[in-house]
Amino acid sequence: MKKNQESSKSQLEKTFRLAYALILSMLVLVLFLTASTIYLITDPSLSLLRRFEASAEEPEASVSENTDLIENGIHVETGFIDAPGMMVTIQNCTNCHSSKLVIANRMNEERWIQTIRWMQETQNLWDLGENEKIIVDYLVTNYPPKKVGRRANLQEIEWYPLEE
Ligand code: HEC
Repeated sequence: MKKNQESSKSQLEKTFRLAYALILSMLVLVLFLTASTIYLITDPSLSLLRRFEASAEEPEASVSENTDLIENGIHVETGFIDAPGMMVTIQNCTNCHSSKLVIANRMNEERWIQTIRWMQETQNLWDLGENEKIIVDYLVTNYPPKKVGRRANLQEIEWYPLEE
């Protein structure tokens, strides 16, 4: 009976030792993982954060490089038609609102000038000076009123009788 008790006691000791070793190795593992994570984040040459920052900056750089890009006769950044007066129009007409607001409107000379006057009187648009004629010419040439309404009258039609 006594022998039996002793062997179960040593069995218990063994189990404790095993558990102790297990906990210790887990602790070492956690410490190692924490240390290597901190190292990866803070080391400038390996840093994951820096790689994210770098990739976020890239698209901006490529956009500013292509400011003057013209494709198929269209100024890519603004959508304006490439024609004489376009740069002056971009410089004066895209500061307060998108170029799309300009492009979406089609008017004759009188109404383009009216729109400019309205912005000057109510929206703090500056005096355009000599540029006004350049801009209005550009707008009338490239964004004239759309031809809407009924078709032209038919002419020289040979009418035929419906009944003999
Ligand atoms: C100082 C600021 C400013 C500048 C510069 C400016 N605009 Fe505007 N423009 C406005 C504001 C504000 C509106 C009203 C926007 C809205 O309704 O959301 C407007 C509206 C317009 C509209 C729409 C008008 C309507 O009837 O809805 C057109 C077209 C337009 N602008 C053309 C131009 C042109 C062409 C130029 C260059 C000569 C120009 N804008 C420059 C401030 C400006």
